Amino acid sequence: MENPLDWWNLEAPRYTSYPSAHHFSPAMDGNWHAERLAAMTEATHVSAYIHIPFCKELCWFCGCHTKMTKRYEPIARYVRVLVKELEIIRGFTGGRGKLNGIHFGGGSPSLLERSDLLAILYALASAFTHDPSGEFAMELDPRTTTAENIKLYAELGCNRVSIGIQDFNDEVQRAINRLQPFAMVASVMDTIRRAGIKGINCDLIYGLPHQTRERFLRTLEMTVALAPSRIALFSYAHMPHLKKHQRLIEASWLPSEREKVELYALAGEFLASAGYVAVGIDHFARPSDTLAAAASSGTLRRNFQGYVTDDTEVLVGVGSSAISQFPGGYIQNSANTPDYSARVERGILPSVRGWRHGGDDQARKHIIDELMCFMKADVEKACRAFALPKDYFADEILEIRELERRHGIIACEDGRNVVVTSPHRMAARIAASVFDRYRHAAAGKYSRVA
Ligand SMILES: C[S@@+](CC[C@H](N)C(=O)[O-])C[C@H]1O[C@@H](n2cnc3c(N)ncnc32)[C@H](O)[C@@H]1O
Ligand code: SF4
Repeated sequence: MENPLDWWNLEAPRYTSYPSAHHFSPAMDGNWHAERLAAMTEATHVSAYIHIPFCKELCWFCGCHTKMTKRYEPIARYVRVLVKELEIIRGFTGGRGKLNGIHFGGGSPSLLERSDLLAILYALASAFTHDPSGEFAMELDPRTTTAENIKLYAELGCNRVSIGIQDFNDEVQRAINRLQPFAMVASVMDTIRRAGIKGINCDLIYGLPHQTRERFLRTLEMTVALAPSRIALFSYAHMPHLKKHQRLIEASWLPSEREKVELYALAGEFLASAGYVAVGIDHFARPSDTLAAAASSGTLRRNFQGYVTDDTEVLVGVGSSAISQFPGGYIQNSANTPDYSARVERGILPSVRGWRHGGDDQARKHIIDELMCFMKADVEKACRAFALPKDYFADEILEIRELERRHGIIACEDGRNVVVTSPHRMAARIAASVFDRYRHAAAGKYSRVA
């Protein structure tokens, strides 16, 4: 085996879609989107993602689609557009589609005022038929989440929250422009629990400036002391050529790729010893949590929201940059908020690019999803399921064998079972990229796997 560890510098998508959104084409516009919405029946399970692209302050590491605003007025104006977009959607769905998942993300949905949050929920309940037994999740920034907010979310049926922690160390927090003491996060979590919201996720990032093993171990200990049901452990994607504010983080402050992999390994071992089960490439869940159950029962799925437990066929993205997923493809709203708003004001769906699955896309997507969710894929079984010849992926299997020989992180058993053997589960991105026929067309746009 040559140099078993140099794989961490490889670049690959995170595969929240296949192909990754870089490949979406402007040839796909509102017509396909409108057709898919109109094709929904009362029995179609729908999950809605609502994007709020505003924050009070920018964190310098942030890779999300968001903008800083000190005033509420731009948010209020945006909410009016969101409601109008949902009215346009209603025009196609006729209120059909069983809405059993609502996810507010951003940006910072915790900035929404009560009347605006209610207006969005009413518009959602009108565009679809709401099934309140599903998941209602909010991404919360502890710095802007008040006790009144939390009480409101609980009253409205919110049953899962994701809290951005990232890192508890002072020096790391200063370097990312995100000051948030442990006591603040602990108090927000306590209020969430007292309000009766049971599903609590915490987000951590490894690879941030000035992180060391000792510091990160302390962050992990403090996070586990808060007893969340899930922990997302994201790899810091430093892409200053795409996100200008990341230039405020000097490259020399960052751990090397090798150190990043060690931080991940440290976290994996610590969280396992604290009773968390590894799920997918970057999640950890208590065995009693639905994510851990979905991983062990084989029902875990991956989509734009990350790892999910629901069985919805349709994911409707609402808001600027939001992506919708239908059987057969994806469609994305304009990511330029003024352009998004102008389209909605004209009464049209604001979708501008997308992808229609054709050729062998579905088979490749299936294999990639299996690898990203379960760290293994039976390639021959996938060929059978998609009516392809048994040796359809012979070249890919050869490439997997070459990775096995060179790096020892992935294995091919019986010539058909691709298995991620490395404890560094992000290696699944490399295995998945072998089955990605479009990966070369967007070289340089993906983050490093470490
Ligand atoms: C939309 S943000 C979270 C919500 C809220 N705005 C907050 O920060 O608390 C979702 C998560 O994405 C992760 N994230 C953002 N930028 C990232 C980057 N460049 N690399 C890795 N993870 C990132 C962070 O962990 C963050 O909590
Ligand atoms: S991490 Fe969250 S709060 Fe910070 S800029 Fe990004 S979206 Fe806003």
